[in-house]
Amino acid sequence: MRFIFILFILGLFSFGKTTTNHIGTSIVDNSKVMSVDTVVADSLKAIIAQGKALFISNCSTCHDIGLREKLIGPGLHGVTERWGAYPREDLYAWVRNSQALVAKGHPRAVGMFGAWKTIMVSFPNFTDEEIESILVFIENS
Ligand code: HEC
Repeated sequence: MRFIFILFILGLFSFGKTTTNHIGTSIVDNSKVMSVDTVVADSLKAIIAQGKALFISNCSTCHDIGLREKLIGPGLHGVTERWGAYPREDLYAWVRNSQALVAKGHPRAVGMFGAWKTIMVSFPNFTDEEIESILVFIENS
């Protein structure tokens, strides 16, 4: 999902402006072509900034903003690796409603809830992209 999202952003920005010269041949004006590296770095920065802002306003009361300390919930550093045996969508499902995933018997969800015994707040209105931006922020911090 993340890669599709980044490819989409790339698609929006990476094409140079074409113009037509005096004999009617289409030419690419290279001065307007942004380097792909710059576009990727800028999109990644924007996604990380969005994820950080969402984390601060929604998660940081229970999860350390530095991602390493335990607060009401665990430090989220390395969380995508810990969920690495499952599809990324399982983490989206967890954030939207962790107890629903526990009820389904998801091994990681059952294990985490069993260890912490605190019900995490649900964020049912978060889109895949919003949750993904939080995960990308976590992975890059
Ligand atoms: C009210 C406190 C609270 C808030 C707010 C909260 N969480 Fe949690 N979170 C927890 C607790 C407690 C756990 C441990 C598992 C459990 O008890 O269900 C947890 C576990 C998790 C896990 C699983 C960690 C692992 O190692 O498997 C993820 C991922 C997670 N939270 C993400 C988030 C995100 C993203 C947000 C903000 C959008 C958020 N949480 C907001 C309390 C919270």
